[in-house]
Amino acid sequence: MVSRVIPVENFDLIIFGGTGDLARRKILPGLYRRFCAGQMPEKARIIGAARSEMDNDAYRDFVRVAVTEFGGKTASEANVLEEFLQRLHYVPIDARGDGGWADLAKLVRKDVVRAYYFSVGPGLFGDLAARLTKHGLADDTVRIVVEKPFGRDLASAKALNQALAEHFDESQVYRIDHYLGKETVQNLMAVRFGNMLFEPLWNSQYVDHIQITVAETVGVAGRGGYYDKSGAMRDMVQNHLMQLLCLIAMEPPSKFEPDAVRDEKLKVIRALDPVDHHHIVRGQYADGPDGHSYRDDAENLRSFTESFIAMRLNISNWRWAGTPFYLRTGKRLKARSSEITVVFKDAPHSIFGAEEGRHRNMLSIRLQPNEGMTLDVTIKEPGPGGMRLLDVPLDMSFADALGPDAEDVPDAYERLIMDVIRGNQTLFMRGDEVEAAWAWTDPVIAEWEARNDVPKPYEPGSAGPEDAMMLMHRDDRRWREIKT
Ligand code: NDP
Ligand code: BG6
Repeated sequence: MVSRVIPVENFDLIIFGGTGDLARRKILPGLYRRFCAGQMPEKARIIGAARSEMDNDAYRDFVRVAVTEFGGKTASEANVLEEFLQRLHYVPIDARGDGGWADLAKLVRKDVVRAYYFSVGPGLFGDLAARLTKHGLADDTVRIVVEKPFGRDLASAKALNQALAEHFDESQVYRIDHYLGKETVQNLMAVRFGNMLFEPLWNSQYVDHIQITVAETVGVAGRGGYYDKSGAMRDMVQNHLMQLLCLIAMEPPSKFEPDAVRDEKLKVIRALDPVDHHHIVRGQYADGPDGHSYRDDAENLRSFTESFIAMRLNISNWRWAGTPFYLRTGKRLKARSSEITVVFKDAPHSIFGAEEGRHRNMLSIRLQPNEGMTLDVTIKEPGPGGMRLLDVPLDMSFADALGPDAEDVPDAYERLIMDVIRGNQTLFMRGDEVEAAWAWTDPVIAEWEARNDVPKPYEPGSAGPEDAMMLMHRDDRRWREIKT
């Protein structure tokens, strides 16, 4: 199979926050990999902008180190790296002052695609938007890329949307949720809408329930300041898990085009019922063998922030009424494993007798790592002595199925940045989607705050608090095991 690299137009990509952690670890190494893949036209340029005083050479040194550390195997090709570095420029700028902006205005070209990446804290989005306008750097052709978190509640998300809308049309704004840039997340849509096999069964008549698990082994050490004010609900559920839920539950869009897809996702969020607090389990990791608890990592010994959440959701629409969705995500769990499992109902009648009745087909889509799909099907247990049934997996890993091509897929940031340059908003969140997600999230958080809810402790390296297991057991169901 030959991988296709779709050409893009010449561009100036201006990274505000070009010296920050995200730029260093993800954006710049990702751009380098696209350069190596031949996807950066001859006249494309990247312009870093931040307050630190440095010239182009110093910035190129900074990027050389970043790419060498985070660029993956392509980083070792020294001559290619030097060629890439010639595409880089740097302008010292303060988002809150006017210094540096005239220099930026002189540098940025008007006859190429212009994309401004706001890789700074959300507190600076409004300032940047206003200064771009003031210094003649914005018009109705430029594109704005904004990072998460997009607000911490509905009010702040609305304020951010408002601040951007004063200067840019919605069609110019690209809100990143990096989960949408993951190859396997997009594959959810291919599996659902590219196959005849699944879609007729994809509803409450045939599906017993759906599980979405995003388990991480990392804790919050090093970013406790941010995380302790967010927790798993704001950090993961409101955005990444909500997007996964939308892709798995939405109606087929008429086309794979931005508004067609985003309209369908929005309908799912709006159809979510409020969650009863009996259907939520919040957890916080306790002391592990290394002697570090969440509270130590977050440097807040009285913290009640959750590092784990499990919940049961209902979507009130024709397709899903009566089929619960179970979501869970957490830090310091037993394995890094993100998976969506569709558990189908029992066959309506067992011709093999009541004791052979409960065999459920399950479709599991592994998002990371070891990306692939497993379909559990029921077969006869081999041997004489009657008809006993057995569930066996039809297992497909993308690495085996696609060979070396599976290794060369761009990571989420690479893909999303190139989509910005192409002007394709399909994999970016629209303002009303983000607001709808917060409108659903806010009352959930408000309720546990009002009840002074204390998260349940769980062992690092486990599957989360016992109560999360009970959430399923009460419904006579069980989580699919988080595999190490
Ligand atoms: P950092 O704190 O590491 O970097 C912030 C950047 O902003 C620096 O380049 C800083 O440079 C610049 N900056 C700060 N104040 C100003 C100012 N007044 N004017 C101009 N530039 C300024 O943050 P991250 O890179 O980690 O995060 C950036 C954004 O990305 C945030 O919104 C974050 O939530 C989001 N994000 C980050 C992730 C990550 O893995 N790091 C993951 C997902 C989202 P200087 O001090 O030189 O001005
Ligand atoms: C980020 C969250 O958005 O996603 C982090 O802020 C989390 O807390 C990360 O660890 C997970 O992303 P990935 O790509 O490693 O699954």
